[in-house]
Amino acid sequence: MKVAVAAEIDANEPRVAATPETVKKLIGLGANVAVEPGAGIKSGILDDDYAAAGATVAKDAVTGADIVLKVRRPLTSELARLKKGAFVIAIMDPYGHEDALRALANAGVIAFAMELLPRITRAQSMDVLSSQANLAGYRAVIDAAEEYGRAFPMMMTAAGTVPAAKVFIMGVGVAGLQAIATARRLGAIVTATDVRPATKEQVESLGAKFVAVVDDEFKAAETAAGYAKEMSKEYQAKQAALVAEHIKKQDIVITTALIPGRPAPRLVSKAMVDSMRPGSVLVDLAVERGGNIEGAKPGEVVQSGPAKIVGYLNVPGRLAASASALYAKNLLTFLETMIDKKTKALAVNWEDEIIKGTMLTRDGAIVHPNFKPKTAA
Ligand code: NAI
Repeated sequence: MKVAVAAEIDANEPRVAATPETVKKLIGLGANVAVEPGAGIKSGILDDDYAAAGATVAKDAVTGADIVLKVRRPLTSELARLKKGAFVIAIMDPYGHEDALRALANAGVIAFAMELLPRITRAQSMDVLSSQANLAGYRAVIDAAEEYGRAFPMMMTAAGTVPAAKVFIMGVGVAGLQAIATARRLGAIVTATDVRPATKEQVESLGAKFVAVVDDEFKAAETAAGYAKEMSKEYQAKQAALVAEHIKKQDIVITTALIPGRPAPRLVSKAMVDSMRPGSVLVDLAVERGGNIEGAKPGEVVQSGPAKIVGYLNVPGRLAASASALYAKNLLTFLETMIDKKTKALAVNWEDEIIKGTMLTRDGAIVHPNFKPKTAA
């Protein structure tokens, strides 16, 4: 069983899909591990570290590999080097990229999209959305603090009192919860909002105040999978009115709102940004998916009226070493479900909901129910 760890081609991707720790574990599971040179460098891992863990470091690591571990979906140029039937495991970003899925199918690889993993208890340790969003939520607060010309905690000094920053978190999934916890640790006064009723208690348990339009639609606004639904126009209008009043009084706004497979909901208008006081900071963690904040620019920090809007891309990558460590661990636990510990060989249970939920392509076809081409009735 040959496992390859590919170097990321995208210059904006500093993460890597394995660490020396996970390499050792993979070898223990019976794998021969080959790593492309420089694969870990931007995450603080040297080729020598991989070699010391027992991997081979080689330019042609992916050639002939049975399993290829990556962070991002392979480009067509990378696919050409993979053998037919190879497993490719990555964050595949499949929505809206049907051509890329077709290319994966045509290359004959079995592609797994880690972000489609079902959110069941057994799969928690493989959940890349959670491991990466948690770090992004933390980093969003640090990035906001960096751009903010004032202190977060209240300080009573001989020279006068510095008031605590008021931080508003919009969207309280994994990233939002970590943003609340981080802002609280820094001493801010934190409020938060979401459309899923379950979040109210979570927000309050972290010592923040919950702000939301609580009506019948809100009470039903969670799918069986625990995700948000797209809200009605009427709800959005009520939400916008409440948020407009609240945002005026905030120093920092961090948005994390996402709806799986849909563009991010627009939560903050230009008028709301303009209502904030000079020096305020907004961070849009949804900028890669269309953005929650009007005026947010992917990859940029922009001045918009009185406030700065931070729109960094790949925020988990801004903590590359931590993000890689957790991501590599997620992939290792995912792979463990496919390997027979006694025979030390691949033994995939194709009926496992973890496999079915993540597998995009197999035998030259797109097989995932969300992306399968519709056949004529
Ligand atoms: P996400 O990244 O899809 O969305 C972030 C947040 O935005 C969500 O809380 C969502 O409700 C919120 N949102 C969407 N539209 C909004 C709007 N118009 N206004 C305000 N907020 C809006 O969510 P994430 O972080 O992936 O978590 C989704 C759920 O999955 C959560 O309930 C989380 O606790 C659960 N989960 C379960 C796991 C498990 O293994 N059982 C693991 C990880 C998460």
